[in-house]
Amino acid sequence: MKFIDEIDIKGKTLFIRVDLNVPLDRNRNITDDTRIRAILPTVNYCLEGDAKVILASHLGRPDGQKIEEFSMAPVARRLAYRLHRKVQLAPDCIGPQVDQLKAEMKPGDVLLLENLRFHKEEQKNDLNFAKELMKGVDVYVNDAFAVAHRAHASVDAVTQFAPLSVAGFLMRDEIHYFHKSMEDPARPLVAIIGGAKISGKLAALLNLLNHVDKMVVGGAMANTFLKAKGFDVGQSLVDDSLIDTAQELMAAALTKGVKFYLPVDVVVADKLAQRAETKIVPVQEVPPGWVIVDIGPATVTLFGEALQNAKTIIWNGPMGAFEYDAFSRGTLALVHKVADSYALTIVGGGDTDVAIHKAGEFQKFSYVSTGGGAFLELLEGKKLPGVIALERGSKKKKNVRPN
Ligand code: 3PG
Repeated sequence: MKFIDEIDIKGKTLFIRVDLNVPLDRNRNITDDTRIRAILPTVNYCLEGDAKVILASHLGRPDGQKIEEFSMAPVARRLAYRLHRKVQLAPDCIGPQVDQLKAEMKPGDVLLLENLRFHKEEQKNDLNFAKELMKGVDVYVNDAFAVAHRAHASVDAVTQFAPLSVAGFLMRDEIHYFHKSMEDPARPLVAIIGGAKISGKLAALLNLLNHVDKMVVGGAMANTFLKAKGFDVGQSLVDDSLIDTAQELMAAALTKGVKFYLPVDVVVADKLAQRAETKIVPVQEVPPGWVIVDIGPATVTLFGEALQNAKTIIWNGPMGAFEYDAFSRGTLALVHKVADSYALTIVGGGDTDVAIHKAGEFQKFSYVSTGGGAFLELLEGKKLPGVIALERGSKKKKNVRPN
């Protein structure tokens, strides 16, 4: 793979695939612009290097329909504010009007294309669509780690048509930190895995067992492990079809010498609602009909002790029904423990990111990934389509730019 600072960009037309899929409220105000701030190093570098910058992203899932609600307009405004310069929003991402706008660009200009997913061809990895996107482009830059797990036209097929393909700084950091934590970690390496469903994280758990020294499991997915150990978890969310798998996984951890930690006490509620009645109980005493909603204080202490000697910590997923303030205490307490550790700390996944911000500890983490699904696929040991496409496209093609 080649990187943006290894090539000549002066006067070149760069097509930068970014992931500006930011959360919006019902009035279409951006509620968190982390993903916009994350691409600024690459975009500013290109602008300072006198390149013409075309930015392209998806926003939400409009499924091939041109729907106003999914327009990039709010993103264009926030981007202009963050870049301190004009950002022109194109009426589409392909077509004659866009080609005209591209042709009129001068070095230092920023053109933001309209939502890539307004065309169904984007998600179909359509070759003609990819070729259209690359019209008039000298260099394709992928700085969209968060969508690198999707084999979509602007992520994958484009590198077949771009004269040259390189990675941006965000992509470089994401891959660098991940490899540092998984391939060549300072040990002990501890994985903290939480979230609702064991099914969605099974592949990650299995792969992590080959890398980590300790595995800490919390969140609703821990319920399946607790049930597999014979505890009655009341009405808590359990994946009954995966009880045997959970048992096998714990047996594999034992065989591989991976220390495996589960909650020892939990917060239970009589219903999953903000104003529910709650109490803290040992995992042996979950009342029938109640649901586990968070890890308890003894578990926070236990997990904190397991992290004491960690040199690398990789974390994905909250420890409870964190979206309810009443049940977020365990996750937030663990954020502080990880933040205060002496380890290299790498976090991925939207909910975990929110927890770190909520706890006010963002600055203390070594690296917080912008990726949710992409980060999880790396944890599963998969190679991302976006990375494969960049490797394929990093050798300069003999042909000139497509037009
Ligand atoms: C994300 O938010 O995880 C990425 O932007 C990918 O979005 P998607 O899950 O809609 O493909």
